[in-house]
Amino acid sequence: MKTLFNDVHIHYEAQGSGLPLLFIHGFPLSRMIWQPQAQALHQEFHVITPDLRGHGESAAPAGFYEMQTFADDLLALLQHLQCGPAILIGHSMGGYIAFAFLRQYPEWVKGLVLVSTRAAADSPEGKAGREALAQAVEKANSAAPVVAKMLTNMIAPASIAADPNLKTEVERIMSHTSLNGLAGGLRGMATRADAQDLLAAVHVPTLIIAGAADALIPPTESENMAKAISGAQLHLIEGAGHLPSLEKPEEMNRVLQAWLRKI
Ligand code: MLT
Repeated sequence: MKTLFNDVHIHYEAQGSGLPLLFIHGFPLSRMIWQPQAQALHQEFHVITPDLRGHGESAAPAGFYEMQTFADDLLALLQHLQCGPAILIGHSMGGYIAFAFLRQYPEWVKGLVLVSTRAAADSPEGKAGREALAQAVEKANSAAPVVAKMLTNMIAPASIAADPNLKTEVERIMSHTSLNGLAGGLRGMATRADAQDLLAAVHVPTLIIAGAADALIPPTESENMAKAISGAQLHLIEGAGHLPSLEKPEEMNRVLQAWLRKI
């Protein structure tokens, strides 16, 4: 389905009924990373999987994609679907967006699942690297520089050995991201606010999941968030890299389902 939110056509899927689960994918990915979870959970919950602006099948206006802008699109989606407060499930950049959403719209957040993400903002070197990569994308007029830089770190070698098709599939999703989405997402992430101040104030049930072999965002970031958020549950997935939803879908679904049934 495609609907106009904040003047941008956003593609999303919504299945099932009950407690709303809003799945927020990372960069430069799409709702496709949540397919195993949508399949496992839609009989029990209202599963909502949007493509963020600039990604997947959604439209891609030019400009910076601030985390707050993504969050505003997601609020408009929840309102359009006439949902109450939702469980936000954010992967990587999706976690940064979940923090922006929580800061602005806390009354809409019933719980948080932070997957392979971090609360800290970029370092000055990190910001400069994002700008260089955005310029490389613009110069090449292609997603190739982002794929070359990120793909090998997305999936753990053990996961590729277990399923060689996974790398091809993730490369396909990444390459499908529009040029505006790539440049806008990189520049938006570089300017995002530090969310570490939010952690002690999180008062909703929180589950934190990361691949123990994540080469993009070290699992220590997840351990630190788990220490800072009162009552947070931490689960590290052995053998998984940055994309546990696709690399270890059964374990991810089991942990998610058990946690959701408790809250
Ligand atoms: C993501 O997967 O969303 C990105 O790797 C996050 C980032 O680059 O900080």
